Amino acid sequence: PPQPLVDQFQRRITYLRLSVTDRCDLRCAYCMPERMTFLPKKEVLTLDEMHDLALGFMARGITKLRLTGGEPLVRRDMMDLVRALGRRIGNDEGHGHLQELTLTTNGTRLAEFADELRAAGVRRINVSLDTLDRATFARLTRRDSLPQVLEGMAAAKAAGLEVKINTVALKGINEHEIADIIAWAHGQGFGVTLIEVMPLGEVEEDRIDHYLPLMHVHDDLSRRWTLTPSAHRTGGPARYWDVAETGGRLGLITPLTNNFCEGCNRIRVTATGQLYACLGGNERVDLRAALRSDDPDRALAEALDTAMRIKPARHHFAIDERGAAPALARHMSMTGG
Ligand code: GTP
Ligand code: 5AD
Ligand code: SF4
Repeated sequence: PPQPLVDQFQRRITYLRLSVTDRCDLRCAYCMPERMTFLPKKEVLTLDEMHDLALGFMARGITKLRLTGGEPLVRRDMMDLVRALGRRIGNDEGHGHLQELTLTTNGTRLAEFADELRAAGVRRINVSLDTLDRATFARLTRRDSLPQVLEGMAAAKAAGLEVKINTVALKGINEHEIADIIAWAHGQGFGVTLIEVMPLGEVEEDRIDHYLPLMHVHDDLSRRWTLTPSAHRTGGPARYWDVAETGGRLGLITPLTNNFCEGCNRIRVTATGQLYACLGGNERVDLRAALRSDDPDRALAEALDTAMRIKPARHHFAIDERGAAPALARHMSMTGG
């Protein structure tokens, strides 16, 4: 029988992040340059190939599958894949492999897809939103899409999806708005997770200028609200706090100030079928070549074994003595985080 995925540090890998496209309808300044070069479509796996790949991972013990991008909902016929994967979610009789099928989206197309996502078995989604100010949103994402995103989140809530907002904490951009975002989100029944900006791919600005250590943000918020550590876990990298005054939950993702790699349970696959063993490293294996080989089952099994051997202990994001953070060449939109 197929072996579960365990790396050389005895970490059990149960969470796959599958990027279905590198394309996006926004251009967040910390994520992409204004004139981003996207992959030629012929390089990208077909939705059938992605489905086969996901089944191969499930056979090896993946129980949580998150679809990412780029923006997953801009991929044509995307709901066909979501529906097919949704049929793999375990039911009360214990059939099916997935405990959770979910996605991370920028929300621009949620109004259109929320009901279909829910019908396909999705119960919870993460929506990226860094500001509630329309002008700031337009400047940061280079698109005037805030109303659309808010409409999308309202549609998700109406469809019965649990919504969590991801907010990248950015000095000089949204730092003074963070408490307002949390208060608003909690009022809507949405969770919020703050994220430290990571040096991935070249963009126009120096991200370090906007880097905000989340421990400082946590301290500021603690002066305003009563934060108590929560036992809540999702299998993702966030650590959670309950906010007494708002009744909501706050997550913190701190790759730079508080490393969480020891408990890593994740791998990610790009839209071209490259498995990256770590978000913050270049260790990878080519699953597309395996899928398209003469004996895909064997080739895939071997590729996954290799991935477990090369998965590094931790990422190498760091801020050096000069306050510089050497970037990985790859953009976040390749691996979807
Ligand atoms: P939950 O299931 O809600 O916990 O989601 P998640 O945090 O696993 O996924 P999401 O797509 O919402 O990611 C939020 C942020 O966490 C993104 O900025 C990701 O880049 C980052 N992230 C996710 N996994 C890793 C990881 O293994 N390492 C690092 N450094 N960042 C990660
Ligand atoms: N550092 C941290 N988070 C990032 N995201 C995109 N680029 C970066 C970066 N360089 C976030 C998005 C989204 C999530 C998938 O990753 O805002 O919430
Ligand atoms: Fe698109 Fe997400 Fe990158 Fe923003 S962060 S440009 S929404 S992929």
